[in-house]
Amino acid sequence: MRYSCDMETLDLDGRKGLPPHLRVLAQSYPRATWQGHPNFNGLTAFWLERHGMFRQVMDKVLDLTQSYLDDPRDRYAPELSRYTGFFLNELHGHHSIEDQHYFPQFSRLDARLEQGFEILDKDHHALDAHIHALADATNAVLTAIKAGQGAKSAAGRLEATQVQFKKFLDRHLSDEEEIVVPLILEYGADLG
Ligand SMILES: [Fe+2]
Ligand SMILES: [Fe+2]
Repeated sequence: MRYSCDMETLDLDGRKGLPPHLRVLAQSYPRATWQGHPNFNGLTAFWLERHGMFRQVMDKVLDLTQSYLDDPRDRYAPELSRYTGFFLNELHGHHSIEDQHYFPQFSRLDARLEQGFEILDKDHHALDAHIHALADATNAVLTAIKAGQGAKSAAGRLEATQVQFKKFLDRHLSDEEEIVVPLILEYGADLG
């Protein structure tokens, strides 16, 4: 029973960070030391850059919506469509690679962090639902703009959805980095 209770409080929607028992390696390898470590390789850098790109594009689509709410512009619809489509496609592909290749390899490295990979796997499922919600809210805005009706209220709902999504995305990416990168540094594992 203790286990299911733990998993509940560790859900993406309610989690404030990793619990101390899953930060054993993260504590030995603080974020500021990652890049200078001899086991920090090009693929790890590339993987972290992908996370950085997701954070930036998320900020971009939120900024587009907030600018539109402040001052409706013609370019909002094509830009929103292009950036959101790119973001959701790339994020879906990124999760697939992690689910199929990275997590199965990495979860075997250190039994102390096994539960960490269960959490990350659950996060991906939770993010799937949020991806659908974000796609639906984005499509609702695009449809409303095309119809010339109700665009501002649809954009208001999209803004709320984007703010939520950004929160969940940041939580997932940060916790995933704090599980995966210390494992790479400790065991010289490769994201190949
Ligand atoms: Fe992930
Ligand atoms: Fe990731």
